[in-house]
Amino acid sequence: MKIIRTKNYQELSKKASELIVALLQKKPQATLGLATGSSPLGLYQNLINHYNNKDISFKNVVTYNLDEYCGLPRLHPQSYYSFMYQNLFSHIDIKDENVFLPNGEASDLEAECKNYNALLDKANIDIQILGIGSNGHIGFNEPGTPFSQETFIVELTSKTREDNKRFFSSLDEVPTKAITMGINNIMQAKMIILIASGKGKAEAIRKLINGPVSVDFPASILQKHPHTIVIIDEEASILL
Ligand code: GLP
Repeated sequence: MKIIRTKNYQELSKKASELIVALLQKKPQATLGLATGSSPLGLYQNLINHYNNKDISFKNVVTYNLDEYCGLPRLHPQSYYSFMYQNLFSHIDIKDENVFLPNGEASDLEAECKNYNALLDKANIDIQILGIGSNGHIGFNEPGTPFSQETFIVELTSKTREDNKRFFSSLDEVPTKAITMGINNIMQAKMIILIASGKGKAEAIRKLINGPVSVDFPASILQKHPHTIVIIDEEASILL
């Protein structure tokens, strides 16, 4: 695992976007694995800026998102589909047909997991962007998830629902389930970039980098990935 320490969130977002820009300049038909949450927002804004400056194009880029809430309509403001359009896709030249997210509204969620997993099996993701949950979750792979896990329906922990409550008007509105890529899917990416900022992530970053590899802290498996880059700001690195 390569660790890049930056001064602040702005610098972290710049470093992460430089890696993606370099990939897209070398391989305009690249495949990206994308994440939601507040961590990648600065990265996405930088990618939009680079697109506007004509440094990169997304017209041949294909994307797969990590996860989606179950039971929220696709156009609900807090669905991950809406998040991705609001914060990235609506501002760049990506083709709708090249954008993939699990469908959390599917009538048969098990079948949806199988479909999404089959897509991922063929995806060949060049770079997977990840944030990290305070309990070590990646995507929505909560503690205890086997490392061999493929796309599945997850019951969100109360900690994760509590963490994500800030996006909803009350805890009751936070969905209880999501569809997520499994850890095994995430580990197939050729390169993984995990970004974390702020002191709220410091303990998670300590366990990610120095802790034992254990299903109790799902992100720890990234220690075994051949090409993971962890980009953190000063506050997230205080416990290292
Ligand atoms: C959610 C997402 C994760 C994300 C995590 C951290 O639970 N499913 O993919 O990494 O939140 O979010 P944030 O970046 O807002 O701290």
